[in-house]
Amino acid sequence: MHRVERCTSTNDLARQLAREGAPEGTAVAAEEQTAGRGTKGRRWYSTRKKGLYVSFVLRPKTPEVSLISLAGGLAVRQAIDKACGLDTELRWPNDLLWEGKKLAGILCETSFLGNLPEYVILGIGVNINHEEDDFPDDIRDIAISLKIITQRTADPEELLRHIVVSVDEWYKLFCRGESQGILSAYDEHSALKKGDEITVLMNDKPAHGIYHGLDPRGALLLKDESGIHRLTSAEIVKLL
Ligand code: BTN
Repeated sequence: MHRVERCTSTNDLARQLAREGAPEGTAVAAEEQTAGRGTKGRRWYSTRKKGLYVSFVLRPKTPEVSLISLAGGLAVRQAIDKACGLDTELRWPNDLLWEGKKLAGILCETSFLGNLPEYVILGIGVNINHEEDDFPDDIRDIAISLKIITQRTADPEELLRHIVVSVDEWYKLFCRGESQGILSAYDEHSALKKGDEITVLMNDKPAHGIYHGLDPRGALLLKDESGIHRLTSAEIVKLL
């Protein structure tokens, strides 16, 4: 575990270490990020010591890496449950929600060498000790922190220890090829349930239908009058 006070993004530092040959399991945690990234090119506000910002270097031996980010979501969910006793829900592909508000997010970035991944960076951000006013205006209504939920200051070090153990556990499951275990756990903790009506934004086009679960590679299945459509997270701008 490398510790830094401040960096652009722990995903950047982890990537740099991975390029220099860092072994699988190397991690970077920062107290603050000056250019924290979310998915879809969004920003991840990373105020000093308010949140947990950590990234892991993984070196999977299969090209099929899409389940890693779902496994990462399950790992963070489990760690938050163990550390704080909170039963959070997953919003596909890997946001962690508490009563519909976002508590944590995951950014998985993969570099391929030929057909195989050279490394995967699993970046995790958890809102820990934010008060409502600490969130910028544009996300105040949709974000939440452990402190807002529990009314207590949370210990980031304790949560980090649980995250390390849980990431290890879920990633090993992935490496053993136990996709079904990942998918069924995901189903159990998913905010979306099969049969729910959903709207997804694909580029600027909305598509409506019924949530039909996930396929074996973790893509979302949307059922409408024309059949079942397989949608990857890359194709979907937003899930409404
Ligand atoms: C999202 O929900 O959009 C993903 C957020 C991921 C944030 C984490 S914080 C640690 C790592 N470094 C980053 O720049 N992003 C991820």
